[in-house]
Amino acid sequence: AASPTGCPVSAEAAAFDPFEGPYQVDPAEALRWSRDREPVFWSPRLGYWVVTRYADVKQVFRDVETFSPAIALEKITPVSPEAEATLRKYDYAMNRTLVNEDEPAHMERRRALMKSFELDELAHHEPMVRRLTQEYLDRLVDKGEADLVDEMLWEIPLTVALHFLGVPEEDMDTLRQYSIAHTVNTWGRPSPAEQVAVAEAVGKFWQYAGKVLDKMRQNPSGHGWMEYAIRRQKELPDVVTDSYLHSMMMAGIVAAHETTANASANMLRLLLENRAVWEEVCANPSLIPNTVEEALRHAGSVAAWRRLALKDTTVGGVAIPKGAKLLIVSASANHDERHFENPDDLDVYRANTADHLTFGYGAHQCMGKNLARMEMRIFLEEFTRRLPHMELVPGQTFTYLPNTSFRGPDHLRVRWDPAQNPERRDA
Ligand code: HEM
Repeated sequence: AASPTGCPVSAEAAAFDPFEGPYQVDPAEALRWSRDREPVFWSPRLGYWVVTRYADVKQVFRDVETFSPAIALEKITPVSPEAEATLRKYDYAMNRTLVNEDEPAHMERRRALMKSFELDELAHHEPMVRRLTQEYLDRLVDKGEADLVDEMLWEIPLTVALHFLGVPEEDMDTLRQYSIAHTVNTWGRPSPAEQVAVAEAVGKFWQYAGKVLDKMRQNPSGHGWMEYAIRRQKELPDVVTDSYLHSMMMAGIVAAHETTANASANMLRLLLENRAVWEEVCANPSLIPNTVEEALRHAGSVAAWRRLALKDTTVGGVAIPKGAKLLIVSASANHDERHFENPDDLDVYRANTADHLTFGYGAHQCMGKNLARMEMRIFLEEFTRRLPHMELVPGQTFTYLPNTSFRGPDHLRVRWDPAQNPERRDA
């Protein structure tokens, strides 16, 4: 077998399959061979060039003139005609948002909509995140065991996302289903039969987004990002278009929700698997902000991102032809010892941990990164204070939604002795 440039494909490259096996369990470990021996390789199964070293992944993120983000949300498995028909039935017209928009349109729009993400604006949302976290924990603390994904970590980032966007809180369970469907639709490998079911959910998600948008247009006076965007549209109608607002409603929920839910579950699992580190953080809460960052590096919720080569170029010395699609694996880059010392260690004192590429890099770097960090920090503050004695239920196997990019355990089961809860002992 040969790559599109005529180079032979190694056995490891030929076998690489991000939809199953080792990549799902541990993407960084699964690509160690690549970082060591073949850091840019053609994957015949995926039809993508895969980039795994820190410097190369960063170069691709940085150079948006050469590597377009246009395919970032493209379906990685081609859509069946039946699924296409289903989407048409719902007038599905998801358009470019921010994350997959080229320059100069992208930067104009990003600047127009950035204000809601600035730290002083985000501070308005902090009491809401704290209150939600405390309410969910109140329901758990006396039980002695919980599935943290099902009972907390999935729902809070969804509620926070809805608040942040300015969306009414209703229809949560439905939205949860829509949101999962969207991930499978974009990054997974659904069978033809599944594709139709997924398309149904995506179509309904799209219509729901449109309805909520219409509702918000009647009185866009609140603090939500969508309300702000509706107000900005009046000043900049060519930058913030109708089509963009509709796409943003749907894409915004997905961008803010699953990424943060998965990152939080990955973080708590990682810390509980490294008991000494967990206990140190419990004893010293000032370590929490850097612990959040180190968790995002070590076990981020976005494992890989995509770019399209707009011209013939090279990455890491390997020729990449115009039109090539690239899978840039941030999870691998984040474990590259060429940039991070002892990268597989969980080191909450690590000085350069914020160099991680989990939020991407450059012009498109995640706009919501500080909201995500705030949520993760508050989760950690509340868990370390109220349940420092919790532990993973032993023997559980972690499963993941098969897809290239979003990564977090489907379930995270923990247990503890409620009689040992600090709030009872101290009472
Ligand atoms: C873009 C990851 C949370 C909104 C991105 C990108 C990544 C990412 C990888 C693309 C970066 C690039 O192309 O360079 C994450 C992770 C999160 C998270 C890992 C949680 C741990 C959020 C939240 C929000 C959000 C909470 C919204 C409230 C956005 C937006 C963009 C984006 C609007 C597009 C930025 C642009 O293209 O200019 N995110 N994200 N994200 N994210 Fe996030």
